Amino acid sequence: MKIVLLGPPGAGKGTQAKSISNKYSIPHISTGDIFRYNITQMTPLGIEAKKYMDKGQLVPDDLTIDLIKDRLTQEDCKNGYLLDGYPRTVAQAESLKNALEANNEKLDCALLIDVPREFILDRMTGRRVCPSCGASYHIKYNPPKNGVNCDECGNEVIQRADDTASTVNNRLDVYEKQTSPLVEYYKGENQLLVVDGTQSINDVFKQICEKIEAI
Ligand code: AP5
Ligand code: MG
Ligand code: ZN
Repeated sequence: MKIVLLGPPGAGKGTQAKSISNKYSIPHISTGDIFRYNITQMTPLGIEAKKYMDKGQLVPDDLTIDLIKDRLTQEDCKNGYLLDGYPRTVAQAESLKNALEANNEKLDCALLIDVPREFILDRMTGRRVCPSCGASYHIKYNPPKNGVNCDECGNEVIQRADDTASTVNNRLDVYEKQTSPLVEYYKGENQLLVVDGTQSINDVFKQICEKIEAI
């Protein structure tokens, strides 16, 4: 199964991706997580990406497209994958489509987690993430069991560098301008599925499974 997760910052893509990836045994590939890992390792890619991410802007297409092309050829992707945060521009979507078509393949769906803007700031400023495994928590809606350490791996959870109110607003503007056209794009490809992302984490997951299983 090949799935693209769409949705604004804070929609719950990372949160749902963990559960989808476990249930359907497909790797969760998050371009944001890959960039953040490269930042902690201070690789040339990380140093370049950080300049954009700190401002809430998109990392340029050429860097991102090459990164994903390479990742999708790895062994664990041969039975499918779940893309979280990619594609984010029409150019990225076209590149993905061309790469798939070259192998006579196509996406199973692009799943939009629909959350209106007024919900987002509260979700982002309350978010805590595990710097080691990428798990996402929320101080009110989904706190780690002991309040400070990741349930999965025990590392202390932290606030993401780009989760300040001003950067979040900028990321939302960037989403509306550069990424939201993908909703129409995937509608046109007959691949769009939409779930209501304002429900509880468990209820959103239920909707997602129902949609996927009805394909
Ligand atoms: P990325 O890491 O992809 O960030 P994003 O798209 O801004 O999305 P988030 O990770 O912030 O939100 P999410 O939807 O995963 O929400 P989460 O599950 O954590 O990208 C970061 C940056 O990297 C970009 O700005 C860009 O610079 C660069 N980048 C990445 N990909 C790129 C690309 N393809 N091209 C160019 N640049 C790229 O949930 C949020 C919070 O809400 C959590 O606290 C969670 O616990 C809580 N929550 C989740 N669901 C619910 C619910 N149902 N009810 C209540 N709370 C909930
Ligand atoms: Mg995420
Ligand atoms: Zn962890």
